[in-house]
Amino acid sequence: MKEQNAVMRPYIVGNWKMNGVKAMLAEARAIDRAAGRNPGVDVALAPPATLIGPLRDAVTMIGVGGQDCHTAEKGAHTGDMSAVMLADAGADFVILGHSERRRDHGETDAVVKAKAETALAAGLTLIVCVGETLAERDAGQAEAIVGAQVDGSLPVLADPASAGLRLAIAYEPVWAIGTGRVAAVEDVVVMHAAIRERLMAALGEAGAAVRILYGGSVNAENAAALLAAEGVGGALVGGASLTTEAFLPIIAAASHED
Ligand code: PGA
Repeated sequence: MKEQNAVMRPYIVGNWKMNGVKAMLAEARAIDRAAGRNPGVDVALAPPATLIGPLRDAVTMIGVGGQDCHTAEKGAHTGDMSAVMLADAGADFVILGHSERRRDHGETDAVVKAKAETALAAGLTLIVCVGETLAERDAGQAEAIVGAQVDGSLPVLADPASAGLRLAIAYEPVWAIGTGRVAAVEDVVVMHAAIRERLMAALGEAGAAVRILYGGSVNAENAAALLAAEGVGGALVGGASLTTEAFLPIIAAASHED
């Protein structure tokens, strides 16, 4: 058993991205039943916003979350969604600063931080994503880039002592997302330790309780090794969270690490 996980339950989160119509609720129900069989693991799904309400009604054991929210609570922002609306639809958490949002929508650390503060005010917990590109890694800048993202994206917490309950970080190297190319376990351990240092610097002792997830091509084959690695508190899973068949072995692997 890892020292860190003695105090923190593993957190396995499926990010469905822009995938999923009502027919997918059957998968969510099966994932929910599997979560019930693995009570030592915190399991959650972030479906497209259109499915948050129906999915909330379909499950009982797992967390339900959004994939983004606006910086404002409401207003003239056609097509956008606020944290208040996500919470109202039944979400408990929101993923913020995913590299696909940073890339497709030009989200900066400052925008992610503003969204994070609005989401906390709406009562949501957060998964804040950080990660370097391949060019940044090849240039030896991965730790500096990710460290700056953590510093710039972290919200100011009204009660910093509660950081572990309100916030998780997902380390997702951009080059590992959806590519089948998973990061080496040794590199993940080094980066998670670097992120932990930043969290401790920003939050003091409370930074020790913030779970740091790994994301990027996690699947049934590589999950056990990643989840057993020092400092890895769970996984943010894209492609392999879309079917029960692919997702359940990852939940089971986390169960062995709790
Ligand atoms: P992937 O996506 O598991 O499909 O690589 C992970 C993510 O983007 O959260």
